[in-house]
Amino acid sequence: MKKNHYTIRLAREEDVDQVFEIEKASFGQWKRNYFIAEFDNNFSFFIVAEQNNKIIGFAVAWNVVGEIQLNNIGVKNDYRRQGIGISLIDHIVKLLEPENPEKILIEVKETNHNAKLFYKKIGFIETGKRLKYYGNDNALLMERSLK
Ligand SMILES: CC(C)(COP(=O)(O)OP(=O)(O)OC[C@H]1O[C@@H](n2cnc3c(N)ncnc32)[C@H](O)[C@@H]1OP(=O)(O)O)[C@@H](O)C(=O)NCCC(=O)NCCS
Repeated sequence: MKKNHYTIRLAREEDVDQVFEIEKASFGQWKRNYFIAEFDNNFSFFIVAEQNNKIIGFAVAWNVVGEIQLNNIGVKNDYRRQGIGISLIDHIVKLLEPENPEKILIEVKETNHNAKLFYKKIGFIETGKRLKYYGNDNALLMERSLK
């Protein structure tokens, strides 16, 4: 199987342990039970990228009145810079297309330079800042129009 061959699908509860490993390795903010709680939200879209039965990336987004709120995204360390992050976002946008969303939004830690470069590369622009949103770190508000 080619190194870059993977599929993207909706997450299942049995994926959460692997998703949480990716989150911990990314110094993420989410506890394990936050991922579990997403299965009870009917406005939540939780997807995973899978290769050879292993989870290599995930994204969680909410459909919030005409907007997509991207709440979390992570790609396993060894699999970064292969376009998986872009594919996850494209997949979320496709899934939510029937809702006709105006834009996709994200809050990103101001100190998370890699994520900022990622979002800028895929067309997000900065629209604001929340001071001390993550403890001592500010959050940048970024969005991309889908129109
Ligand atoms: C942010 C993240 C999801 C990106 O996933 P990815 O699969 O590596 O991203 P892609 O391969 O789709 O990157 C697309 C483009 O974004 C830019 N980019 C992505 N990561 C980058 C980095 N570390 N440094 C500079 N540019 C980067 C590049 O232009 C890249 O294209 P290129 O590789 O052809 O140059 C991943 O780095 C990650 O899991 N980080 C830890 C978790 C995190 O910070 N999540 C965001 C929380 S808001």
